Amino acid sequence: MKLLIFGVGGFIGSNLVEHLIAEGEHEVIGIDQSDEKLAGIEGPNFTFVEADITKSHDLADEMVSKADVVVDLIAYANPSIYVATPIDVVQLNFFENMKIAEYCIKHGKRLFQYSTSEVYGKAGRDGFYNEETSDLIMGPVTKQRWIYAAGKQYLERIIHAHGLRGDLEYTIVRPFNFVGPRFDYLVPAETKGGPRVFAHFMSALLTGGPMYLVDGGNQRRSFTHIQDTSEAFSILLDHPQAINQIFNIGNPATDISIKELAIFMMELYEELTGKKPNNELIEVSGEEFYGEGYEDMNRVPPDISKLRSLGWEPKRGLRETFSDAMRYNLDPAVHASILA
Ligand code: NAD
Ligand code: UGA
Repeated sequence: MKLLIFGVGGFIGSNLVEHLIAEGEHEVIGIDQSDEKLAGIEGPNFTFVEADITKSHDLADEMVSKADVVVDLIAYANPSIYVATPIDVVQLNFFENMKIAEYCIKHGKRLFQYSTSEVYGKAGRDGFYNEETSDLIMGPVTKQRWIYAAGKQYLERIIHAHGLRGDLEYTIVRPFNFVGPRFDYLVPAETKGGPRVFAHFMSALLTGGPMYLVDGGNQRRSFTHIQDTSEAFSILLDHPQAINQIFNIGNPATDISIKELAIFMMELYEELTGKKPNNELIEVSGEEFYGEGYEDMNRVPPDISKLRSLGWEPKRGLRETFSDAMRYNLDPAVHASILA
């Protein structure tokens, strides 16, 4: 099969293409505006095309016409961006993604759309988030953080409606806090906003700076090893029951509060390096850390029974997930720039 991956140069894309090269079953063509995270990732079945999709619509359209399956990973994926530049977020994550979906409809190609666990919003006060039964509850419009989740939700609804009409074959996945090598980017000590939580805590461990606990760090997340998620992709690609369906990809066994995560990462850092970290844990408000317009999910617990029924199981727990991601960042070639 010929797979076309939009956003192949990002965290999920670079890990997915590495997995697909190792499997060797498919021809993969990847598009991204950056190939920084693809250094050293090569194989006879992988071709990279550097392009900014906002300026290359004809190219994207033509490449979709030549593919069998299209995987869309392009988005702004960090809450700090949703708060600071919400128009850019909806422009890329909704309107540009919608164009990719339209090319798939035009050329009759199957679309793998990466959505987000954030579409559930504040739904999970009780129980687990389920693809078929959970309500999707967004916060106020004046809390612009939700523009990301609202844009992804609307994209999902339009894709689903095309599936119902019979002019699009799709699979939507909702990732729950994937973690692994090449995750986001490291930042200098005391940076606020910027990347997602693992990259912040890792940067703090490397620089000795503080770990910021937004609104006390009592909110909870479930983290998923990136390799488990690539394996989930392969199952979904091959399984007939994945057509015109939505799937959570997450690991409910790793549920942890952000404060507990900070302490856990300090312990792991000591185990991996032999150095005892001495980071200060500082509580900050969401507004102070991200700016005005931030709001949070208290918990994001995935129900993964649907994907389990196709034969997938997350195999890696919290320790392996964070050790693998941390080991990658402990390489001086990766972290030197933030210590300079
Ligand atoms: P990422 O930021 O690492 O990757 C996105 C990629 O898109 C980047 O390589 C970027 O260069 C590329 N891109 C952005 N604008 C582009 C443009 N105009 N032209 C060409 N390329 C462009 O993000 P990620 O973590 O790999 O996430 C991938 C997808 O999965 C996104 O849709 C994100 O919303 C979704 N998602 C990810 C997670 C997660 O745990 N990582 C969780 C929920 C949802
Ligand atoms: C982000 C994305 O926006 C979602 O699309 C995606 O579903 C999700 O990641 C994911 O990876 O699945 P979020 O879970 O809020 O959403 O991502 P983080 O930025 O990693 O934040 C996690 C929690 O840690 C939040 O409560 C945040 O306030 C907190 N945090 C973050 C800190 O306490 N300290 C930090 O230094 C950074």
